[in-house]
Amino acid sequence: AARVVVLASGGGSNLAALLAAHDEPGFGARVVGVVSDRPRAGALDLARDAGVPAVVVDPADFPDRPAWNRGTADAVAVFRPDLVVLAGFMRILAPEFVGRFEPRILNTHPALLPSFPGAHGVRDALAHGVKVTGCTVHLVDTGVDTGPILAQAAVPVLDDDDEASLHERIKVAERALLVETVGRVAREGVHVVGRRAVVGA
Ligand code: GAR
Repeated sequence: AARVVVLASGGGSNLAALLAAHDEPGFGARVVGVVSDRPRAGALDLARDAGVPAVVVDPADFPDRPAWNRGTADAVAVFRPDLVVLAGFMRILAPEFVGRFEPRILNTHPALLPSFPGAHGVRDALAHGVKVTGCTVHLVDTGVDTGPILAQAAVPVLDDDDEASLHERIKVAERALLVETVGRVAREGVHVVGRRAVVGA
């Protein structure tokens, strides 16, 4: 199975979905390590409960951003990943990181890119008044949420939604989309033609 390292900053429900999938026969991917920038991230507990090694790379322990990016890349490289999955990782990774693993880095984002990139994809979609939003799994390049798109799912915005209720609805679709896409990329590979990511050899 493809070796997957997950980077997560938060509660880790996307990580939990990957951990639930990776024992299924034929899934083709296994989470072999978790890296977080936050010492208290719930994702760390999920990893430990699943018996997956988890490490913290806290920016406070590094002199500057490039050093933290290199430290994060070193921590990920220890696990010899075939794929790196950003699942609720809330910091921007610079070329010192991306250059080490590109094009094998996937990110999940809670909006239909290229609309509403950045840290507040759900809030920004709600503020804009769109009636449909969703989630996007894409390859990571050195831009912010700009890499080639692998998969998307649409989610309706309801009239009485707030950011929390909309994000919960998106996350249901997002977990399924992320698991499916990681499995497909792990089993079949991916290549990029122009701006388009194509899963398969
Ligand atoms: C997910 O919705 C993910 O798309 C989002 O954070 C949430 C993490 O949830 N990521 C971003 O907004 C990245 N800019 P989780 O910790 O429960 O997996």
